[in-house]
Amino acid sequence: MSDDDSQITPQAVDDAVRSALAAISAASDTAELKAARAAHSAEGSPLARLNARMREVAPEHKAEFGKLIGQGRGRVTQALAAREAELAEAETAARLESERVDITALAAHARVGARHPLTLLQEEIGDIFVGMGWEIAEGPELEHEWFNFDALNFDEDHPARQMQDTFFVDPVSRHLVMRTHTSPVQMRSMLSRELPIYVVCPGRVYRTDEFDATHLPVFSQVEGLVIDKGITMANLKGTLDHFARVLFGAEAKTRFRTNYFPFTEPSAELDLWHPTFKGGARWIEWGGCGMVNPNVLRSAGIDPEVYSGFAFGMGIERTLMFRSDVQDMRDMAEGDVRFSEQFGMVV
Ligand code: PHE
Repeated sequence: MSDDDSQITPQAVDDAVRSALAAISAASDTAELKAARAAHSAEGSPLARLNARMREVAPEHKAEFGKLIGQGRGRVTQALAAREAELAEAETAARLESERVDITALAAHARVGARHPLTLLQEEIGDIFVGMGWEIAEGPELEHEWFNFDALNFDEDHPARQMQDTFFVDPVSRHLVMRTHTSPVQMRSMLSRELPIYVVCPGRVYRTDEFDATHLPVFSQVEGLVIDKGITMANLKGTLDHFARVLFGAEAKTRFRTNYFPFTEPSAELDLWHPTFKGGARWIEWGGCGMVNPNVLRSAGIDPEVYSGFAFGMGIERTLMFRSDVQDMRDMAEGDVRFSEQFGMVV
């Protein structure tokens, strides 16, 4: 111990305690407090050294000095504990503040998504017809076999039932199918609406098709149905020509090729021509159409001697393929937002 080491006096004890308390309250974080503890209360600190010199104190003063040092060390220990608690609390608060997350903030990188080109095309088609005074009609995707087939004049064992590659729904005794076309909405419209009827019915349909570049087991169609007095095939042709021109441009045209559907008579395959189709000006198969079969009108309680009508139906995916030159239909089903982005459709 060096000579200038404080003598053990009440003043020396008081000084040591004071400087310890000052260092403790000056410590602004737990690291500084640790240093203050080492300098002012641990082994080798002035207080500890004074304590060690107790044996030099004359016996009659031992009790007095012992009490002095004991109280001093007690105050320092208490101050250390209090400051430690204070700093720990402040540091926890600071850490919580720095880790604060605003759960109501909009994430800067979240992709909002985009409307699907198919949805937009479907709406555009709806708008074309609504613009002519038609209405939008809807029907269920899980459909009764009667609406999907029987009401449309398909015989019990008509090969067309197999042709349609139907998803039958268990139990078979309930006669439910996933609708194979939007044509059941024809009968639903005839049964639920007042005459005359001018409706378009866009919606999803189901077939047990392969999932490949030109087929999807779930796809969409748009059906058109008109029932009025004096409706002829010329009205059907004029309507489809107008539809084609609005959708594909003024140069587009349509043609009919004879075909068979049980619910239309006569029936036609509908082709579409456009000068800028991929692969040059050409005819492509677009859908089916025809004059509503009198049997269908009769099952809806409509007198075929007074009313006649036409109907048509086409695939919306196919329409989008031609219109926007999409090579692979699967791109429309996969839900990758980059597909929509190609159409500039990010919302
Ligand atoms: N429903 C027929 C199909 O899916 C298309 C069609 C609709 C034909 C309306 C005639 C009239 O192939």
